[in-house]
Amino acid sequence: MRLIFSTFILGIFLGCSGPDQAQKLSPKQAFLDSLLNEMTLAEKIGQMSQATGNWEKTGPVVTDPDMVDLATRGKVGSFLNVFGAARTRSAQELAVNQTRLGIPLIFGYDMIHGYKTTFPIPLAEAASWDLDLIKRSAEITAIEAAASGLHWNFAPMVDIARDPRWGRIMEGAGEDPWWGSKVAVARVQGYQGDDLSSLSTIAATAKHFAAYGAAEGGRDYNTTEVSERTLREVYLPPFQAAAKAGVATFMNGFNDLNGIPATASELLVRQILKKEWDFQGFVVSDWASVQEMTDHSIASSDKEAAELALIGGCDMEMVSTTYTEFMEELVKENPTYISYIDEAVHRVLAIKYDLGLFQDPYRYSDPAREAEVVLHNDHFKHAREIAKRSIVLLENRNQTLPLNTDLNRIAVIGPLADDKETPLGTWSAQGRQEHVTTILEGIKLASGDETKILTAKGCEVNSSDKSGFKNARSMAKQADVIIAVVGEEALMSGEALSRSDIGLPGVQLELLQMLKATGKPVVVVLMNGRPIAEPWMYENCDAVLETWHLGVQSGPAIADVLFGSYNPSGKLPVTIPRSVGQIPIYYNHKNTGRAYDPTERYTSQYIDEDHLPQYPFGYGLSYTEFEYSNLVLDKSSFHAGESISIGVDIKNSGPVSGEEVVQLYVRDMFGSVTRPVLELKGFHKTMLAPGESQTIHFTLGAEDLRFWDKDMKFSWEPGNFKVFVGPDSGDLLGADFKLL
Ligand code: BGC
Repeated sequence: MRLIFSTFILGIFLGCSGPDQAQKLSPKQAFLDSLLNEMTLAEKIGQMSQATGNWEKTGPVVTDPDMVDLATRGKVGSFLNVFGAARTRSAQELAVNQTRLGIPLIFGYDMIHGYKTTFPIPLAEAASWDLDLIKRSAEITAIEAAASGLHWNFAPMVDIARDPRWGRIMEGAGEDPWWGSKVAVARVQGYQGDDLSSLSTIAATAKHFAAYGAAEGGRDYNTTEVSERTLREVYLPPFQAAAKAGVATFMNGFNDLNGIPATASELLVRQILKKEWDFQGFVVSDWASVQEMTDHSIASSDKEAAELALIGGCDMEMVSTTYTEFMEELVKENPTYISYIDEAVHRVLAIKYDLGLFQDPYRYSDPAREAEVVLHNDHFKHAREIAKRSIVLLENRNQTLPLNTDLNRIAVIGPLADDKETPLGTWSAQGRQEHVTTILEGIKLASGDETKILTAKGCEVNSSDKSGFKNARSMAKQADVIIAVVGEEALMSGEALSRSDIGLPGVQLELLQMLKATGKPVVVVLMNGRPIAEPWMYENCDAVLETWHLGVQSGPAIADVLFGSYNPSGKLPVTIPRSVGQIPIYYNHKNTGRAYDPTERYTSQYIDEDHLPQYPFGYGLSYTEFEYSNLVLDKSSFHAGESISIGVDIKNSGPVSGEEVVQLYVRDMFGSVTRPVLELKGFHKTMLAPGESQTIHFTLGAEDLRFWDKDMKFSWEPGNFKVFVGPDSGDLLGADFKLL
């Protein structure tokens, strides 16, 4: 600090970059150039290195010898897992007061769905189809984090996931590149606002670049083989959208993509990200992913791993220390590397500058603001709002739901009924059980005084013990309705938590079958971090609510839906398969030369499994009915530069008000390369009173119909198209048009 604002700043104004040049440069550019000019190679390498703090230690003062050593010797430019206003301040003081140039540290942390106020997991939020609310969750996360000394979130994860075995499917927005891009932008804007130096915003990270979600077999960290066309059409769009929205940083994936680990991918980082997309922020590796290139068997030593990552364009190394250990030696051997290093350091310092850290390195570490904003009441209100909107009604036979509040007895059964940990989901940052309202608590608060709530666990989530069934049956038999709360624990999805069987774990299915055998209506409240394939449950239980892991306000939000004070409007951002054997199964697949035809044997199908998934992408019911009619186009053909307007009537023909997510898809009938059978291109969320009708309008132009053609040009091709509108990707009205 001392030096930055004396020798160093003075240097700028005394013209160390030359009077002409200084005049042309922006103050930021001049500052960064001069700072870079001052730095030794060792100091530069420090800025390219990130170490982890010990996240178990939450004491206010940093005394851990390793951290003190790294910070005071300028060996790191960043810590992750150091949080809290007091502790970040203490760590910052070490760097600012005890290093030669006093360059401030940047503190990063994983706040995937909230800092202390935990919101629904990202996959759940994507089911709300409400970009304003999704953005608001990110804003609140930033407000709480920024007051607690954090500058940088390792979110949003924008990986497209077509395989529900992959545990990290819960971290993203599902399977669709168009929707994934919209959600990515909403989250980036929420975290970053339009001014990174504001005290209520933080830097965001688009991760994991790229195609990490394509892990073979859905097994985390596994190899990915993706053609460049599929990469660009399916996996890259949300990253590109995030870059365009100004995301501050990118994180490399752990995966090996087509033979090159993403961490060293010149194609991904240097060519696509930094050149084609003109990304100005910096790229951080994933946890030790630089060093792990020796295990990928592409680097024969840690030194070679450092070299490959540097060449690949990785600006900061997370946790492993190959840059610290070998970069000086590498530069001695190949002095041209200094230009890569200068570029990387410039990028890192630029984000620190944008955050305002050179003006005041302690500005985010504010105990008073931290105490005031963290876990604020308004944040809990938002948590309930987005949680109830993230719920998807999958089944509702005989209008079992909503429940009357004057029922005599409700049995709330199941291992997750009163669980405080599971609703937090995985990656819950500083979310704490004491802030969670469980389903049982939510139901008790919402049901009438006269209603008796009976409860029993029945079994654990993942055990073979059925000794609790007897008590559960006896409770169930006394009740008017059974609410069965089953699913996956928090740590059954997320990183390194892939599953080969995505049904209900343990004996939970048997618990449901036993409950159903009582003859009482069974409402399943499903809590999970990924699609659950369990046909019997969906096909036999009276109602099924997909509630994911909904965060601190799970109980009240689920009760809102169970008792009808909120009519569910969520729609699936991901296909739910019937069985693991159907995977990969996603709505925007290709037609093949032998598209499925039940009457023809030699068509694309299984002999032992249905062709269709359990529920298609975009699916979700309501307590009311929506009727679609009159899909009308304003013209049957148009030229590039013009647009086509699409109108559809939608009527609420049911008994209560409700919101519907009206979805627009297209199909390009013929292309120079094969095209998907459907592609989402728009949606409109609308509220309708009973009996009310509305005409919903969409517009499409040639630019919406672009794809990577035979010559890998991103362009449209004239020809025949179909447009579809409807409540989900499996139930659509269609019409034809031509692009001339
Ligand atoms: C994960 C990243 C995360 C990082 C830091 C890694 O294991 O893949 O998503 O940001 O750890 O916690």
